[in-house]
Amino acid sequence: MAEPILVAEGIDKTYQSRDGELRALREISFQVSTGEFVSLVGPSGCGKTTLLRILGGLLEAEKGVVRIDGQVLTEPRQEIGFIFQNPTLMPWRTVLKNVTLPLEIRGANGDAQKNRALQLLDLVGLLGFENSYPHELSGGMQQRVAIARALVYEPSILLMDEPFGSLDAITRNQMNLELLRIWRATRKTIVMVTHTIQEAVFLADRVLVMSARPGHIRATIPVDLPRPRDTDLFYNEEFAALHHRVRAMISPG
Ligand SMILES: Nc1ncnc2c1ncn2[C@@H]1O[C@H](COP(=O)(O)OP(=O)(O)O)[C@@H](O)[C@H]1O
Ligand SMILES: [Mg+2]
Repeated sequence: MAEPILVAEGIDKTYQSRDGELRALREISFQVSTGEFVSLVGPSGCGKTTLLRILGGLLEAEKGVVRIDGQVLTEPRQEIGFIFQNPTLMPWRTVLKNVTLPLEIRGANGDAQKNRALQLLDLVGLLGFENSYPHELSGGMQQRVAIARALVYEPSILLMDEPFGSLDAITRNQMNLELLRIWRATRKTIVMVTHTIQEAVFLADRVLVMSARPGHIRATIPVDLPRPRDTDLFYNEEFAALHHRVRAMISPG
C-alpha cells in the first residue's frame, strides 16, 4: 500500500452554542494513501462537513491531530484544495478570472497564470467558456469552474464537500465520470463527502461510513471494483452488494 498522505488521529470536536455544548465528532481516526479516492458518507448532521473542514485546516479540532505527509496541520495549506457544495464563484468575474483569483490574491497575475488557468479549464472541459460569467453556466459547469479553481495551486489533496449535491441525477452521473477522468489525469488524493450512496461507491477505493452524531467512523468498506469505471457498473451485482452494505451501515436496524 502507498504511503499515507493524510492521517487523522483521535479527532474530537465539540461546538459551544447558546444551548450548551454539542459534540460533533468523537475519536475519528483513519488514514488516506497517496492517490487514493475515499468517500465519506453518514446521516445528515453527523459531522461530515466539520470533519472535512478540520482535514483542510479550516477548523481546529479540540483533540487529536491531522497530519499531511507526516506534518501536523495547523492552518490551511496550498497542498490542500477545498471544493464546497456551493461553487461560491464571484458573479462579476469571468470564468477565467474566477480561476485565477487565488493566484491574484497572492500577487501573481501574468500570462503564466492565465495559461495555467486555461489549461485547467481545458482539463475540466470548459475551454471556450473562459469569458463567460457564472450566471451563464449550468450548475454542473459552475462546479467544474470551482474544481479548476481548486486545482490552480496544484494541491496534492482535494477535499470535496457534497460537490454535486445540488445537481440532478443525470448531471451528477456525468460529473462523476468527469471527476474520475480528472482524478486519473492529475493523480490527486481525494476525500469526498456525499449523501448519495451510489456516488460514494462508484467513485471510491474505500467508503468510510460515519455514525449519527457525535460522528464516528463506524465502518470502512473497500470497493475493489475494476477501473476505469463507467455507469454500466450500476447494474453490476457486486456494485449492488456494496451499495447495500453501505446503506445497511448508515441506517442499521
Ligand atoms: N459552527 C457551529 N456551531 C454550532 N454547531 C454547529 C456548527 N457547525 C455545525 N454544527 C452542528 O454540528 C453538527 C454537525 O454538523 P455538520 O458537520 O455540518 O454535519 P453534516 O455535514 O454531516 O451534515 C450538526 O448538529 C450541526 O448543527
Ligand atoms: Mg455537510
